[in-house]
Amino acid sequence: AQKPVIVQGPMPIEAEEFAQKLDDVKEETSGSFVFYKGTLDGYPVIVTKTGKGMENTAAATAIAIEKYEPLAIINQGTSGGHDADLNVFDIVLGKRTVNIGSLKTANKEKGEGIDPTIWKPMDLMASEGSAGEDPDAENIRYYDGNQELLSSANAVKDTYTKGKIVEGTIGSADVWNNEVDRINWFHEKYGTSVEEMEGAAAAQIASAYDVPFLGIRVLSNNKVNDGQYNPDTAAANQEYVYEVVKHYISKS
Ligand code: 5AD
Repeated sequence: AQKPVIVQGPMPIEAEEFAQKLDDVKEETSGSFVFYKGTLDGYPVIVTKTGKGMENTAAATAIAIEKYEPLAIINQGTSGGHDADLNVFDIVLGKRTVNIGSLKTANKEKGEGIDPTIWKPMDLMASEGSAGEDPDAENIRYYDGNQELLSSANAVKDTYTKGKIVEGTIGSADVWNNEVDRINWFHEKYGTSVEEMEGAAAAQIASAYDVPFLGIRVLSNNKVNDGQYNPDTAAANQEYVYEVVKHYISKS
């Protein structure tokens, strides 16, 4: 049998639009996760409504891999801009995805305060030893987007007319940053183009199982250039990701 392509979206507005485009959909649930199993051009595609955040996404990814043995996983949805050149409705293809919530603070004694600008990155996958003590863990771990998925995404760029499409770095954490100085800190230190709350969790689990992975994120807001939140971006992104999947399966 053909291995399915999995398309993940956190919120109903980020998953249901895509699920409605599939043929012969059968809905399955596992825990709080909803899997819409259907076909696209006769090829098996499973849309997952994961729920928001890193934990839901990691669990939904592991369950999907164990249950459905996917050919590839695309994690997609909305995001907030970290780059002033990106506007609401622009789309970032995750050439890299990185956890921006995995951090180690400085050593400070009682009364010495809190200083997030000198926090260091912490790589929980660096070794099996203590991430608090291991100097190798003071490192940013990037998950590369899969080349074939990226090339399909680039091949259908022109079908998207609501904004531009760029390759970039997607940062993820269970944090919504509204401090522009903090956003700029991540942009400079990590090279982030956008932030969201799921991509790096899915990328980490996909990598654990060697499943090809790509994050595709539309900007629904950009604090850096005053881009106001627009929920319609979620549907726009799914229309584009539909074209990406169509192209990808035509080569499989
Ligand atoms: N910061 C963090 N998450 C964001 N999301 C959209 N914009 C942002 C932002 N600026 C996405 C997350 C999560 C939900 C809150 O919306 O991925 O699913």
